[in-house]
Amino acid sequence: MKPLFSSFILGTAVLALVGAASTGTDPGISFEYHRYEELRKALVSVWLQCPTITRIYTIGESFEGRELLVLEMSDNPGTHEPGEPEFKYIANMHGNEAVGRELVIYLAQYLCNQYQQGNETIINLVHNTRIHLMPSMNPDGFEKAASQLGEIKDWFVGRSNAQGVDLNRNFPDLDRIVYINEREGGANNHLLQNMKKAVDENTKLAPETKAVIHWIMDIPFVLSANLHGGDVVANYPYDETRSGSTHEYSASPDDIMFKSLAKAYSMYNPIMSDPHRPPCRKNDDDSSFKDGITNGGAWYSVPGGEASSQ
Ligand SMILES: *[C@@H]1O[C@H](CO)[C@@H](O)[C@H](O)[C@H]1NC(C)=O
Ligand SMILES: [Zn+2]
Repeated sequence: MKPLFSSFILGTAVLALVGAASTGTDPGISFEYHRYEELRKALVSVWLQCPTITRIYTIGESFEGRELLVLEMSDNPGTHEPGEPEFKYIANMHGNEAVGRELVIYLAQYLCNQYQQGNETIINLVHNTRIHLMPSMNPDGFEKAASQLGEIKDWFVGRSNAQGVDLNRNFPDLDRIVYINEREGGANNHLLQNMKKAVDENTKLAPETKAVIHWIMDIPFVLSANLHGGDVVANYPYDETRSGSTHEYSASPDDIMFKSLAKAYSMYNPIMSDPHRPPCRKNDDDSSFKDGITNGGAWYSVPGGEASSQ
């Protein structure tokens, strides 16, 4: 549920990203879930179709040994080029939240198709940035959710990883460290530097969490999005409140930038940004969303979320 964008991250929300219109040879979204093997095949076929601008790699394995696959798109796949910003998109970290997983697969197909069709916006994007797409951070949870028998499935099954860990509460609580440093003096960025060994030795971290932390430390991402299910909103950092209360606006030093990034995202989704949209659930916290965006802490406090580690 809670969408989560992050620190140099923006991100989130469920039903947005590129529009689903079918044009030309673009087959549009196939309204079927990709199981683990199908997800892998979908990424491989994008790679086969656009081999010069894509690369598939894995950042590690889930608890049950499924690969945490990433499709990279850039003019020089595999290479960090100075001046080319690195972007990452993670979906399905809650295994039961499946829409983002499908959107990220579709985004990969869309970028490849549009590039081949000569769309200049997309060609510029691919040539001037490096985009990393991870359709599933929790492949075990997804398989558990999807393999329930019968027509009606329990919506909550598969949220956690195979060890029962909620991955979006499992990251080091860096927001808290930032708040301490604000009072006592200290950094508000690059807090994980030189911490690889400590991360590896921390037995509380799930394998999926460790893999993502290594990934974040290895590549200098400047902006990231994390797609969840459950509500329709672009959520920006910080996600944990300063006081520890449940709801409290928690501005980061980049508050103005994050707000404008979140809005740039929500404005492309008329449902998300509709000021008259009724909340997803009656009496839910989201009745206060304005322009389809929210600060994380103002919505509800999340310690140890993925956004805090960006
Ligand atoms: C090119 O891609 C952009 C971004 O997705 C899109 O808005 C635009 O409609 C595309 N142009 C064409 C001709 O399809
Ligand atoms: Zn979620």
